[in-house]
Amino acid sequence: MNQDIITVTSPLLPSLDEFHDVLRDIWDSKWITNNGSFHKRFESALCEYLKVPYISLFTNGTLPLLTALQALRITGEVITTPFSFVATTHSIWWNNCKPVFVDIDPSTGNIDPDKIEAAITPKTSAIMPVHVYGQPCDTVRIQKIADKYGLKVIYDAAHAFGVEVNGNSILKAGDMSTLSFHATKVFNTIEGGAMVMHNAETKKRIDYLKNFGFAGETEVVGPGINSKMDEIRSAYGLLNLKQVDAAIEARHQVAIRYREALHNVPGITFFEDMPGVRHNYSYFPIFVDSEKYGMSRDELYFKFKEKGILGRRYFYPLISSFSTYRGLPSASPENLPQAQKMADSVICLPMHHDLSQDDVERVINMMLN
Ligand SMILES: Cc1ncc(COP(=O)(O)O)c(C=O)c1O
Repeated sequence: MNQDIITVTSPLLPSLDEFHDVLRDIWDSKWITNNGSFHKRFESALCEYLKVPYISLFTNGTLPLLTALQALRITGEVITTPFSFVATTHSIWWNNCKPVFVDIDPSTGNIDPDKIEAAITPKTSAIMPVHVYGQPCDTVRIQKIADKYGLKVIYDAAHAFGVEVNGNSILKAGDMSTLSFHATKVFNTIEGGAMVMHNAETKKRIDYLKNFGFAGETEVVGPGINSKMDEIRSAYGLLNLKQVDAAIEARHQVAIRYREALHNVPGITFFEDMPGVRHNYSYFPIFVDSEKYGMSRDELYFKFKEKGILGRRYFYPLISSFSTYRGLPSASPENLPQAQKMADSVICLPMHHDLSQDDVERVINMMLN
């Protein structure tokens, strides 16, 4: 029997012929970066697809997080979740701010709004939640808390490309949202990212900041950075945008099959679709209760690995347990019981647009036997 490796993800690639054609255009124009025509067209196309008024492209999903904190002049303490990819907390640290970890809501994996207020001090200036796995945060409640205490809200929406709640983009919440277009994401530009903002002034300021702070040939208006997306990745992104809906639908079908096959397995739980939400199926996390399933999460993870099925323990360990952060008072395990439980029980099953039915059945059979 063919025991090919089944990877947890696989990049969505544009047609090579079409990509070759756009490369020819770029070569002919000799304009390869600095807000060229593909960059402009890609920004417009993304605004339309994502149903947002303004977007600014970046070279990855980490730099817009750093830049958002800079642009909003965030200082002091930033409330965030430990259940994410390290870049979320690193961006706070790189801005000389102190991350304050708040536990998660186990029904979504996202920061628990009930626990945010207790973490606010006179030094708090912002909240940085994450729509983890593309599951929408409770943006209404988070905004209410932010308004009450005068805090900014920056959403790390790295996983939430195309996610909508009641027909509205989740990216419209808060002061700014950031996206990652890394190769592993639902939508990719190989490396890449973006920031979504709500007005033209902010877009202008972010465009200056991602280009060293230049506001013209001779004027620098702030301590900017270089995080501009080039023409080649912009063209690649434009091509990939044409096929992202089909890719999300293919992922949806995989999620349907996983749920159908696993819903009666004792000790295995997973998230259902939320009412009114257009999900992007960026991940398919399952949670293993070792007593009921008869095997621990790590035993299952290594059993998968032995059989060539590469799940990922996303997100494990918790960010708060890494050496940089574990000394923080909010990083203590007693403060984060739900996040710890989720990190200790999660495996993300293989999930991508290119997963064959046979592959999906192989994953399921491994879990049932
Ligand atoms: C939640 C989250 N935030 C930020 C990032 C950083 O994005 P990038 O790898 O594009 O820098 C990632 C992913 O890689 C992520 O998963």
